Amino acid sequence: MRILSIETSCDDTGVAILEIKSGKFHVLANELSSQVKLHAKYGGVYPSLAKREHIKNLPVVLRHVLAKAKLAKQEKPVDAIALTVGPGLDPCLWTGINFAKELAKKWDVPIIPVNHLEGHMLISLLMAENKKVKPAFPAIALIVSGGHTQLVLVKKIGSYKIIGETRDDAAGECFDKTARILGLPYPGGPAVARAAGGALTGKPAFSIKLPRPMIHTKDYDFSFSGLKTAVLYDFQSRTVKVQKSKEYIRTMAKEIQQAIIDVFLLKTLRAVDEYDAKAIVLGGGVAANEELRKQFQKKMKILVAPKELCTDNGLMIALAGYFRWRKKKYTKNVDHISAEPNLRIE
Ligand code: KG4
Ligand code: ZN
Repeated sequence: MRILSIETSCDDTGVAILEIKSGKFHVLANELSSQVKLHAKYGGVYPSLAKREHIKNLPVVLRHVLAKAKLAKQEKPVDAIALTVGPGLDPCLWTGINFAKELAKKWDVPIIPVNHLEGHMLISLLMAENKKVKPAFPAIALIVSGGHTQLVLVKKIGSYKIIGETRDDAAGECFDKTARILGLPYPGGPAVARAAGGALTGKPAFSIKLPRPMIHTKDYDFSFSGLKTAVLYDFQSRTVKVQKSKEYIRTMAKEIQQAIIDVFLLKTLRAVDEYDAKAIVLGGGVAANEELRKQFQKKMKILVAPKELCTDNGLMIALAGYFRWRKKKYTKNVDHISAEPNLRIE
């Protein structure tokens, strides 16, 4: 069977076509139209701007994908449409939903509503960069994106329990907000990672110690807004010359990244222990962080998608859609589908 997917939950327009033959996945096309440059001007995502861009980009990306998969001339190019219905920004989700409804009617195919976070998790589980690491259950998934930070017990594909989550900011949001304080561009995660660079040479000119919020609490919850505030206070206590110096920005970027990694490592490994998990899955945009991947890999074999598939993309929605399809979680009654900005993975 063939599935076309549509992802518009935030600022990336993602469309993919996945073919599944005898249980094997063949990616026929996976295209993305990123709005990063547009939103970088404002230092964050503006939902109304993002919506306008999705409306503009969707038909273009669809055309590319159909052409790439050599399906442009077919009357019914796919058997179903996998569609992100949440969580995400309401106006953005709706653009994808309205577009998918039109297509579903035109091609006379059902829609498979998909949870964006399940997509992030499944693409790392099923398309891990290290092919030698195989999925095993139960697994502990750390889903870390711009809007979410969750530790999920994965009993098997389709059976999840959130065991912990952030009480305030998501990890990606913390990267984005602290980058902004330091004058680094949006999105903040890659910018902080770049600024952190290689090893500090010689004795660091600054000693910065940020808190590791909630690292020792017995639960699996997180909190990152205090970390952001600590960065702000340290920044404000420095002279303008220091604030702008490479050495300060580098030391601070390194410390921000390490504070986040320390909390993730400790809590995830504790969950692995408690639930006797056989694998760790890292999913979501923050899982593209090289240092995070390295430090996890030192502790345990992890399932994590190649970096470009950790950030939002259409393929992850097609994959999640396929597993929903197998459970008959699709509908031809497409008019009833609506956005669920706060959809949960359970
Ligand atoms: O999953 P994603 O593409 O979109 C959401 O669903 O939110 O995640 C985007 C987030 C942003 O906050 C971005 O700063 C962060 O992922 N991110 C990173 C890296 N690449 C993207 N954070 C840390 N290191 C990276 N290399
Ligand atoms: Zn995402």
